[in-house]
Amino acid sequence: MVKSILKEQSLLAPVFSSEKEKNDYLEAVFSRKILFPIMNGGMGIDFSNEDLAGAVISAGGIGVLAASLVGYNDIFEEKLENMPMEERKKLIIETDKAALSGKIRKVRQDSQYGILGINLMRAVNNYEILVKVIGESKSVDILFVGAGLPTDLPVEMLRYPHMRYAPIISSVRAARIMLKRAQIRKGRKPDAWYVELPQFAGGHLGAGNAEEANDHSEFRPIELYNGLRELDPDIPIILAGGIMYREDIEKALEQGFNGVSCGTRMLLTRESGMSDEIIKEFYLNPMYPVITTMTSPAGMPSRYIDNGFLKAAAKVVVETRKRCVSCIGIKNCGFMNRKTPFCIAHWLSKTRRGLKDGLLFTGSRLDEIRNDGIYSKKGETYIPTIREAIDLMLNNLFSQQTCSPAVAF
Ligand SMILES: Cc1cc2nc3c(=O)[nH]c(=O)nc-3n(C[C@H](O)[C@H](O)[C@H](O)COP(=O)(O)O)c2cc1C
Repeated sequence: MVKSILKEQSLLAPVFSSEKEKNDYLEAVFSRKILFPIMNGGMGIDFSNEDLAGAVISAGGIGVLAASLVGYNDIFEEKLENMPMEERKKLIIETDKAALSGKIRKVRQDSQYGILGINLMRAVNNYEILVKVIGESKSVDILFVGAGLPTDLPVEMLRYPHMRYAPIISSVRAARIMLKRAQIRKGRKPDAWYVELPQFAGGHLGAGNAEEANDHSEFRPIELYNGLRELDPDIPIILAGGIMYREDIEKALEQGFNGVSCGTRMLLTRESGMSDEIIKEFYLNPMYPVITTMTSPAGMPSRYIDNGFLKAAAKVVVETRKRCVSCIGIKNCGFMNRKTPFCIAHWLSKTRRGLKDGLLFTGSRLDEIRNDGIYSKKGETYIPTIREAIDLMLNNLFSQQTCSPAVAF
């Protein structure tokens, strides 16, 4: 009989009453004396917003804001097509900065000492500017960077000793590059690895193509764990992708991971930036399959619900191109280079605004969790709160109807 790690150790942080208390706790977490509190994955554009991150923090977890392109929602209604490109570029830089600063402030107003993380895509054009906003705010505890390897961070993070950082990776090779860079440039080693399994995760997937992303044998958590441990015995490792039930968490912790992060489970809550109507109509509706066949404009495979958005996108390609804000740089963008039929900012932002023909990113286990008891009440579809979703994952509450077995790692 395997011992339950969750019975012995909590994945919920205590309430801190000073910066010192929080820092002592984080020191214990990052030196692997205790486990990471449960956390949400960053979900852009603005799905893991201040409400979601705040709710995760107040439930005892690490709340993570998605930072990339958070200002785009604010300029969606602008007549971007009538502006010169340089003006559009300036506009997105200013609105991203203002929106992100506002979100950080809001989380801190509600929770002075909660543990706050920020997720940023390396691929965005104004990445360096946003790292500065995040670092200089002195309000963020952990910076997670994915969608590209943040090889600048070992040196850049020397400027922000109060903040820890965790590259989002799917291979040991990526970790090796980060460590080498830190050594050569005399910079800071990553404080943690955030390992995201492409076969389960939502959004951009860290794999060469869709086939590889769905290949479970390519991304075995235990092999990734052992490889990373061999590289560095001390850096804690967080596992993400397909964590839906207590059994998945137990399994990850048994394998040695020091924490877990959840995307889709946290997305399907009242506090997330996804509208309740879209959750009910698409995410919880078995009529809509999850597919991984599309390469995003950033050149990575991605997983989403097939709601027919590509057909809608194909009708407005020319108009949408005129609205480009160069979010990942025109030369890097599959949409502007006519390889990908949609602009990711435009179609994610539509979803964030509650429009039903937008891009619906999701993890691969959506099909399995749609029937969980947590999503129905008195015969009606029910959207849980973050606290209820966390209760389900840590205690298996609300899942009596169909508690799936642990995913086959
Ligand atoms: C709607 C959605 C948006 C996402 N956006 C981002 C993002 O902006 N940056 C990122 O690093 N990961 C992103 N992800 C990945 C999540 O942060 C998380 O690591 C992943 O979904 C975990 O897998 P799970 O959904 O099976 O729990 C996104 C996932 C979803 C479902």
